[in-house]
Amino acid sequence: MIFETHAHYDDRAFDKDRVDLLKSLPENGIGAVVNAGSSLSSIETIRELTKQYSYVYGAVGIHPCDTGDLTEERFAWLKKQCADEKIVAVGEIGLDYHWNDPHPEIQKTWFVRQLLMAQEVHLPVIIHSREAANDTLTIMRENHAERSGGVIHCFSYSVEMAAEFLKMDYYFGIGGVVTFENAKKLKEAVRYIPTERILLETDSPYLAPAPYRGKRNSSLYLPYIAEEIGRIKGMTAAEVIRCTEENAVRLFGVTCVC
Ligand code: NI
Repeated sequence: MIFETHAHYDDRAFDKDRVDLLKSLPENGIGAVVNAGSSLSSIETIRELTKQYSYVYGAVGIHPCDTGDLTEERFAWLKKQCADEKIVAVGEIGLDYHWNDPHPEIQKTWFVRQLLMAQEVHLPVIIHSREAANDTLTIMRENHAERSGGVIHCFSYSVEMAAEFLKMDYYFGIGGVVTFENAKKLKEAVRYIPTERILLETDSPYLAPAPYRGKRNSSLYLPYIAEEIGRIKGMTAAEVIRCTEENAVRLFGVTCVC
C-alpha cells in the first residue's frame, strides 16, 4: 500500500471534509499517513487525529517559520508529546530563508534544539530546508544528525547536495513538484538518488501534482507522483509504491494497515 510520509490534515483547508477524506484513504490504497507538525496548535489536532485513525501517525516539531513562538516552557511541552506511541518523528524542523522571518539566528537556534531533542527521544527527524542548503548541512553535521536519521522533506536541491545528505544516510521526500514539466533539477536528483532512499509525500494541502497543480492536494494524488518517479527511474508505479513503502516502514518503524 502507499505510505504517505508528509501531510497536514490538521490544516484549515480540510475543515469541511476531513473525516470523509481520511476515512476514504485505505480503500484508495493509502495504508499509512504521517501528519507532520508545524505550529504548537497543530500538534494538539494531530494527536486527536492519530487517536481517531489507526493508520494516521504524527510528527511533533515546530516549522522554522513558526519558531518565533517558541519558549523554554513550550519546548518542554513539545518534548513530552514525543512519548506518545503514535508519534513517529520530530518534525517538521529546519531552516526557511525565503521570507527571513523569523530571523535566521532564531531559526538556527530552534533547529539545533529540535535536532538534539530527536536524538534524546530516539525518533527520526523530518527536515524542511528552503533556500538554506549550506546552513542546513552545516548544522546537521555539527549536531550529528546521522544519529537520529530522517528525511529531507520536499527535497529541492541539487545532485551535489543530495550526495551530501546521502552520506548521512538520509531519505528524500519526493512530492508533487516532480510532476511539473519545468522541474528539471529535481528530476535529475530523483534519477541520482537510490530508490531505497526515496519516500512518497504530498505536503497536503500544498503542492498538488500535475494535472491538479494549484488545487488543494491530498494523499489521493500520490499515484501521480509514483508514476512520474517510475518514469524517471524505469520502474512501474507499483514498484515505486512497494519500494517507498518499505523505506518508510524502515525509517518510521510502523507499518501500513492491510
Ligand atoms: Ni509540510
